[in-house]
Amino acid sequence: MTERTFSILKPDATRRNLTGQINAVIEAAGLRIVAQKRIHLTDAQAKKFYEVHKDRPFYGELVGQMTAEPVVVQVLEGENAVAAYRDVMGATNPKDAADGTIRKLFALSIGENSVHGSDSQDNAAIEIAQFFTDAEIVG
Ligand code: CMP
Repeated sequence: MTERTFSILKPDATRRNLTGQINAVIEAAGLRIVAQKRIHLTDAQAKKFYEVHKDRPFYGELVGQMTAEPVVVQVLEGENAVAAYRDVMGATNPKDAADGTIRKLFALSIGENSVHGSDSQDNAAIEIAQFFTDAEIVG
């Protein structure tokens, strides 16, 4: 089933000039980048986006890292896009990520793990709506 998921190329990726290399892995996995913009997240945007983690010990560090430098927010489209992108991202902790995955190839640590992807279709819709209007998504 064709669906959409939300992706962030995180500050550790933009800082190291890796957005093109990561997009190449995304596209090679059969996902289409149907919306994309480079933005600098505000503190309020990052806190809202990661609100689900607000009681976790890493929340403050996460918000700090996500607002330190620009990110690239994206909408990806393809067959089972949520699961397909999670497969190509690899495990949250790069130490556990499979060979060939984005996090195995590029991530520095569990915090600076290069990419975010939605964990469900419901969250994908919520996350996409936080950053894109319908008119900005061009399949
Ligand atoms: P992400 O998929 O963006 O969702 C939450 C982020 O919190 C996660 O990727 C990691 O970058 C970050 N994080 C930092 N420490 C941890 C941790 N111990 N467990 C899970 N996520 C963590």
